[in-house]
Amino acid sequence: MGARIGVVGSNMVDLITYIDRMPAAGETLAAPRFAMGHGGKGANQAVAAAKLGAEVMLVSRVGDDLFGGGTIKNFQDLGIDTKHVRAVPGTQSGVAPIFVEASGENRILIVKGANEHLLPADVDAAADDLKGCALILLQLEVPLETVYHTIAWAAGQGIPVLLNPAPAVPELDVGRILGASFLVPNQTELTILTGLPAETRDQAEAAARTLVARGIRQVLVTLGAEGALLVTADAAQHVPSVRVTPVDTSGAGDAFIGAFAQHYVAHGDTLEAMRWGARYAADSITRPGTQMAFATRAQFAG
Ligand code: RIB
Ligand code: NA
Repeated sequence: MGARIGVVGSNMVDLITYIDRMPAAGETLAAPRFAMGHGGKGANQAVAAAKLGAEVMLVSRVGDDLFGGGTIKNFQDLGIDTKHVRAVPGTQSGVAPIFVEASGENRILIVKGANEHLLPADVDAAADDLKGCALILLQLEVPLETVYHTIAWAAGQGIPVLLNPAPAVPELDVGRILGASFLVPNQTELTILTGLPAETRDQAEAAARTLVARGIRQVLVTLGAEGALLVTADAAQHVPSVRVTPVDTSGAGDAFIGAFAQHYVAHGDTLEAMRWGARYAADSITRPGTQMAFATRAQFAG
């Protein structure tokens, strides 16, 4: 089994403001702290996997602005293959204004910018290199047509795809994602996908079952502090998380997926990869920021 991971997805610059509370309309409020960092769900997942030692290639688009060059350099510094990361003339890089409360709870706005220009033809242009991947990761911060196209192409190649349906996009056509080997929603995204409640573990399992019944082989629901749930046609299995005091939960789902992917392509054991991912995500929320909070293999005790 080839161990390379392909990520077809977004990158953003995270503009993180740590707040005591959100200002009301018309109100100006001082906030204690600001940080800027590399983010975006596709990039975050690629970076988590790379920091843990995976070989990663990324297909992504940046703007031809101040942020684009720095974003590409960040990937290269982490050893990620950026052959298919390009600037789109006349666009701005994606940005994500993020507001984090003292509890660690976050609110995120995304301005997709250049990410909107990652098109099916760009995936075709990267196809020769994607063919060497053992797993392809997708999220929903690039056009849906690109997501559907990548799933269909990968199915034809026999390459497993993991789709993280985040952020939740109500117009996602479930019929066009059935080729994914792994669907990894959080509880909110699962509810939007199925129209069913997913607040408790039992509800999440029942909702995930409806997706398995529609043809998705493995639905892996992230449950935050409760860990994660794997639902297949045969069984539902739960993996716990570890208790930590959250500082900033933004990017935790991406940490889970990046670590899951790295472990899965290296060892091929889904439940073990989930345990690994849950511990890596828990570790990441003890530090502020998204990619900047992700541990390297040397830093992560496991
Ligand atoms: O999942 C967290 C990410 O969502 C942030 O890095 C932000 O860029 C948004 O894409
Ligand atoms: Na964090």
